[in-house]
Amino acid sequence: MSSSNQLLEIDQYIERLFVPRDPVFEQALRDATEAGLPEINVSPNEGKLLYLLAKLAGAKRVLEIGLLGGYSTIWLARAIAPKGKMVTLELDEQCVRVASKNLERAGLRSMVDIRHGAASATLEKMVQTGEPPFDLVFIDADKNNYPIYLDFAMKLTHPSSLILADNVIRDGKVARSGETDPLVLGIQEFNRKLAANPKLEAILITVMREALDGLAIARVKD
Ligand code: SAH
Ligand code: DHB
Ligand code: MG
Repeated sequence: MSSSNQLLEIDQYIERLFVPRDPVFEQALRDATEAGLPEINVSPNEGKLLYLLAKLAGAKRVLEIGLLGGYSTIWLARAIAPKGKMVTLELDEQCVRVASKNLERAGLRSMVDIRHGAASATLEKMVQTGEPPFDLVFIDADKNNYPIYLDFAMKLTHPSSLILADNVIRDGKVARSGETDPLVLGIQEFNRKLAANPKLEAILITVMREALDGLAIARVKD
């Protein structure tokens, strides 16, 4: 059994080796904290993983659900720069302001279309108006709506697209039955739906933080 201290030590070891310090990311996180946003962005190592997955998939169009201060957005936008295009959905106006500034400073603002509002309403509109499909969808907003976001992701992707989702392990709580936290229940339902969808091939991988969390990786079948 690894203790959380060991997990953190390993995480920091990987970060030192593989994620060089970068003032753009550091300033983005500082600004988000100063603006009072919660520090719930993906970790640097997970950001690097998102970046690599986007590159491996050859993604050009990326949809993100849950922008916060734009930290994960910068990772994904850099992976598809300069020709790619990102759409990111966010409910909170303050997040939109902070992220917009962070993307501006990163030189990525023109690549990223920020859509303010409840994600499910925005997604419904995107389906209705015939939004072109995305090569990669990253789900990272309110956990109780993950199952709905998966339905929308299926409608807004094409064969070979990637669907990714953060926070799918939640310190191992997802593996226990009898959990009552609606957020955990939402993730459990999402994970079951992901596993059972015949149009997808998927897996969950653990992501080391202070506590163990995880990333879902799914590919729409050809
Ligand atoms: N992807 C970000 C973290 C996102 S945190 C990163 O790693 O840097 C989750 C975000 O989802 C928060 O900013 C929160 O305001 C937003 N959110 C919560 N409920 C939402 C909803 N119904 N529609 C859109 N965004 C929502
Ligand atoms: C938390 C972490 C996240 O990555 C997220 O998207 C939402 C919440 C958390 O630890 O509370
Ligand atoms: Mg998250």
